[in-house]
Amino acid sequence: MRIRQFIGRREWLLAAIAFATIVLQVYFDLKVPEYMQEITKRIVTPGTRMQDVLGEGSLMLASALGSMAAMVATGYCTAVIGTRVSRRMRADVFEKVLSFSLPEVGKFGTPSLVTRSTNDVNQVQLFIVMGVQMLVKSPILAVWAMTKISGANGTWTAATSIAVAVLVVLLGAVTAVVMPRLMRMQRITDDLNRVTREHLTGLRVIRSYNAQRFHEGRFEETNAELTRNNTQVMAAFALLMPALTALMTALTLAIYTLGAGMIDSASGAERITLFTQMVVFSAYALQIVGAFMMLAFIFVFLPRARVSWKRILEVLDAKPSIRDGGASVGRSGFKGTVEFKNVSFRYPDAEDDALKEISFTAEPGQTVAVIGSTGSGKSSIVNLIPRFYDVREGQVLLDGRDVREWTQEALRNRISLVPQKATLFSGTIASNIDYGKGTKELAPADVVEAARVANASEFIATKEDDYASAVAQGGSNFSGGQKQRLSIARAVARDGEVMIFDDSFSALDYKTDRDVRAALRDAAAGATIIIVAQRIGTVRNADKILVVDKGRIVGIGTHDELFASNPVYREIALSQLSEGELA
Ligand SMILES: Nc1ncnc2c1ncn2[C@@H]1O[C@H](COP(=O)(O)OP(=O)(O)O)[C@@H](O)[C@H]1O
Ligand SMILES: [Mg+2]
Repeated sequence: MRIRQFIGRREWLLAAIAFATIVLQVYFDLKVPEYMQEITKRIVTPGTRMQDVLGEGSLMLASALGSMAAMVATGYCTAVIGTRVSRRMRADVFEKVLSFSLPEVGKFGTPSLVTRSTNDVNQVQLFIVMGVQMLVKSPILAVWAMTKISGANGTWTAATSIAVAVLVVLLGAVTAVVMPRLMRMQRITDDLNRVTREHLTGLRVIRSYNAQRFHEGRFEETNAELTRNNTQVMAAFALLMPALTALMTALTLAIYTLGAGMIDSASGAERITLFTQMVVFSAYALQIVGAFMMLAFIFVFLPRARVSWKRILEVLDAKPSIRDGGASVGRSGFKGTVEFKNVSFRYPDAEDDALKEISFTAEPGQTVAVIGSTGSGKSSIVNLIPRFYDVREGQVLLDGRDVREWTQEALRNRISLVPQKATLFSGTIASNIDYGKGTKELAPADVVEAARVANASEFIATKEDDYASAVAQGGSNFSGGQKQRLSIARAVARDGEVMIFDDSFSALDYKTDRDVRAALRDAAAGATIIIVAQRIGTVRNADKILVVDKGRIVGIGTHDELFASNPVYREIALSQLSEGELA
């Protein structure tokens, strides 16, 4: 088991202490019946003084207290081990998830990754704290207790064996019912997490479309499944508990009944011996049954911890589909050239190519625009440049080097990307613009300049704390256009050789759109600018326009060339502007 990698030296030491205290626990537990035997013997022997009984009694009490103290010590050690191990595990899972590229995140799904790094780690922790303790204690207890009564009365031993056999059958039956349901628990937790998450993130839409009912229904479905599953597990345990108590009582009863017969037919001193033996035997027999019970409980709970452990390992062992190349510089003579060579691309698990035979070049100082209807593949094209996904065929080159040959860090350091969905992080406006680790440290003046280029200075000035104003999680306290402008400012501040704007001007009004692009052209004069847009106004001044349709480039040229000769482009243009405006 790979669990070893999460256990440090101090934990091994604690484990050793835990083991020693478990042995102590068992020792004291098994000592109690011996004093009991002694006390019984004294009581039934005529002429015993009170203080003889009390002496043995206090020793018995001391044993019981000793067992309790040992148990507390064990509990402390295992709790510390459990929390430390789970802390490391959580950290590793988190770090691994951060290293994931989009294909891996897509494979697991965000909700499942959340469950894996929280709930699954807790399951393993619980097992370390509770399960391992029982797993170690029960065999020691069972074997030790057996040696104490071995060679004792055969009839009683037979009764105990029968009780153990019944116990095993009973627990086997319960396990059969409970195990598959416990193993299903993690998947249902994933589902519940997914449904809840979707509802919370889509709250606004749900409200405005009065779709609460629909979502309640969906939540109810998953919730009901979880409830059903839990009820069945709990019902099985509810039946098990009284059955076990009954079994123990029956065993005691059997030993005493059998003992009564034996005592009856014995005579004189032998009667007393038999009687004390009986008291002790029944005490040990109960310990043995108890040990088996503990062992069985572990076998019920182990599978759930194992499922969780496997799910954690799946994350930790996931091979990154995007492997780093070794190059950190492009070919000499290049400074920001992006080239697509006959690129075809397919999303993981998709049936068809999202992009087919894409070829084009974007040079430094140029603005290349990508236009096309929604779903035509514009975002897919630009997401291949920072290598969020790998191509299926062909090559994407930055500075004459295949993006797969670059280290991801060097590659992304050269690229400033504004993704289609503007993303802000909780913090301040400044921390969102000066974000991440680029090739150079940013001065406050750089942040202000970036905001100016992005046309964001004005609204930032209206905020109470200027650049120190708080940004809520997901930027929820900013409008769509403001979020877009802050994202643009972030990209400008990064000052990449290649600047990619994926539909980043869509929420800006026409004038702001124009102003931002003009400022950008000045501020990033030498950079390669790639602009994805749906508006003709945004793209018409570009040096080169790619017209994308159904994953293919159906036209490359300037606005005038395309308008004159390309039917797809002409249709888009005419749908937005009158022929007079375009002329
Ligand atoms: N993560 C994804 N997984 C699978 N298919 C996707 C994914 N993202 C986009 N697609 C599909 O790829 C096609 C192109 O999408 P996209 O590049 O986002 O279009 P555009 O940006 O032009 O609107 C669409 O048919 C879309 O359904
Ligand atoms: Mg898009």
